[in-house]
Amino acid sequence: MSDTQRRKVVVAIPLAQPLLDQLSVHDVTYLPTARWDKAALAAAVAETEGLLVSSHIKVNREVIAAASNLQVISTMSVGSDHIDVDAARERGISVTITPVLTDAVADLTMALITMLARRIPEGMRSVSENRWVEGTAMLGSDLAGKVLLLVGFGRIGQAVAKRALASGMDVRYVDPRDDLPAVGGVSRVARLAEGLADADFVSLHIDLNPGTRKLMGRPEFASMKRTAFFVNTSRGGVVDQPALAAALTNGQIDGAALDVLANEPPDPNDAVLTAPNVIIVPHIGSATRETREAMAQCAVDNLLQVLRGEKSPFALG
Ligand code: 8YV
Repeated sequence: MSDTQRRKVVVAIPLAQPLLDQLSVHDVTYLPTARWDKAALAAAVAETEGLLVSSHIKVNREVIAAASNLQVISTMSVGSDHIDVDAARERGISVTITPVLTDAVADLTMALITMLARRIPEGMRSVSENRWVEGTAMLGSDLAGKVLLLVGFGRIGQAVAKRALASGMDVRYVDPRDDLPAVGGVSRVARLAEGLADADFVSLHIDLNPGTRKLMGRPEFASMKRTAFFVNTSRGGVVDQPALAAALTNGQIDGAALDVLANEPPDPNDAVLTAPNVIIVPHIGSATRETREAMAQCAVDNLLQVLRGEKSPFALG
């Protein structure tokens, strides 16, 4: 039975007018504030039944406790590490995500891998600085035949695998889950340490949770080949960032490409920003027009579904 009552909804991120119109079956408070602090968010959600956020807005236990009527936290992101999901679960609040960004993130990952392999930033700099470094003085490496270790083999890891196989890479993955689909041409590695030692490229596709925080630290970077490249389009928190900066500075690995950092935006003095051979982009994994539109629509659908008393297919278990 559907529930047609008007509810109080806070939309805490920018949304296009047609989506706000879809939400207008409820009483919407539209607060697309760029930077929320927790006291302001707690005050804004005190009466609210539905909350729409994205990954840069922290919805911690305190905020959840302040929202005594809350029924749904709909986040326009696939990651949910910015939400205290346990606190929400304890209160029976549904947390929904938008896992519709797989191809966009996989495309960016391959772009970063290619930029590292072919030294694209270096070549671009030589042209913009009027130094035209010709190819033989700037040899990169082929992707074909190189070992790509995917750390995490969920939706995004599998989509990267498809692209990397098309480039002729030797694709391997490490993932503790035993129920993942077999993908032809991709082999499973039992332990991270084993995979790291043989990889030419290591790319992370895992959630940030207490078990994965700083998964890549000093020993892990030390066990990689000196010629290897590291790519992270998942979450900055899964990397010990000072250890990565040190590994780049000491030549323990050859380069890194990061879409995510431990703090976003980073402290301007963070050593990773000036480490040698690092490419950093500002968390643009899902930032295509089509994907962001799909994510926004999915976040709105999720919120409306839960407020109608239905279960969203994208509710966390
Ligand atoms: C964006 C993301 O940061 O989906 C995620 O988990 O990190 C990204 O897509 C963002 O949430 C878009 O609003």
